[in-house]
Amino acid sequence: KGGKLLVLPGDHIGPEVVTEALKVLDIIEEYSGAKFERDFDLCGGSSLDKHKDSVTEEVLKKCENVDAVFFGSAGGPEWGTSQPNPESGLLRIRHRMQIFANMRPCNFASKSMVRRSPIKEGIIRGVDFMLIRENCGGAYYGNKIEEEDYGCDPWEYRRSEIERVVRVAGALAMQHDPPLTVWSADKANVLASSRVWRRIAHEVFDKEFPEVTLRDQLADSLAMLFITKPTAFNGVIVTDNTFGDILSDESGPPAAPGHKPTLGANSAGGVIGLYEPVHGSAPDISGKGLANPVAQVLSLAMMLRYSFNMHEEADLIEKAIANVLDSKEDGGLEVRTGDLGGKAGTREMSEAIQGEVKKL
Ligand code: NAI
Ligand code: MG
Repeated sequence: KGGKLLVLPGDHIGPEVVTEALKVLDIIEEYSGAKFERDFDLCGGSSLDKHKDSVTEEVLKKCENVDAVFFGSAGGPEWGTSQPNPESGLLRIRHRMQIFANMRPCNFASKSMVRRSPIKEGIIRGVDFMLIRENCGGAYYGNKIEEEDYGCDPWEYRRSEIERVVRVAGALAMQHDPPLTVWSADKANVLASSRVWRRIAHEVFDKEFPEVTLRDQLADSLAMLFITKPTAFNGVIVTDNTFGDILSDESGPPAAPGHKPTLGANSAGGVIGLYEPVHGSAPDISGKGLANPVAQVLSLAMMLRYSFNMHEEADLIEKAIANVLDSKEDGGLEVRTGDLGGKAGTREMSEAIQGEVKKL
């Protein structure tokens, strides 16, 4: 059990929260007997400072020789005008590794998080889905045309691009017994690329995942139902780049009630898995020990689950986080960072999570 990791902490709070997440990994190693070899390197502003590039060829090569990349966050105002910009390092890793399936979980392990949500408790209680966004194709890539009076973004999908991403959804559904339902969101009523997507998705499921129910849903109506009846989509949702971009932000308030930047792990799987929190490098609070480590630790749990098949350990970490977030409601001490209305610092919050992991 275990494997090889490339750790890219990045800039500002990236290293602060990555350090804390790796302490949780130490505990997991002890508890499970798994061993994770960790190689640390630079990406983003720190790489620009040292190598005048947001990511080096050497680091890109390293990505090809590990089981997973554990990423913090990159960027900051001090590199504002530099070319390339620090964030391009991450984009280049994603592109090189063809990290085509971006996974955004939405569930409510924590009672206090449910209560903080801008959406009514009765509507979001019990929501539990995984949104998978195709991340290497569609309208965001291809040969763009930009002229004075004309702009064009070709919205293209090839068979291979559709097959590989819907397969991730099918495999995920099959990890459950009975298998989860998969929804494929498209606009097959108006877009040719969506009609091809829909047809190929069904071909793949009929052939490779006959036990899984695949249902089609128009992306606009899905967007509405996300707000009024999100539990209807418990299971797996798979969708293209554009719809996925919008729907994943829409699932932000339920996933991380009221403060998308601080919760919810965002992971992307492709040739290898790359795991990172949704939030950025938060330069406004860096160096002060105030950053909330929860999203980074949740990214660690996703890495264990999806790159190393360590479901029990991932469950344990998620449960530990929910316990810490709910400890006040449960009559215990409040341990919360400032973004959650508490007074705890990064270390204190992290130690509370580590303590819970050890207890469970
Ligand atoms: P951000 O997510 O870094 O910060 C937005 C707000 O949320 C800030 O007030 C920040 O203090 C707070 N916040 C974020 N994470 C937090 C945490 N863990 N604990 C407590 N508070 C937290 O987004 P912003 O300000 O738009 O971007 C800052 C920098 O990060 C930029 O250079 C941006 O390009 C970069 N960025 C990098 C990403 C990545 O590496 N994947 C993703 C998003 C932004
Ligand atoms: Mg977006």
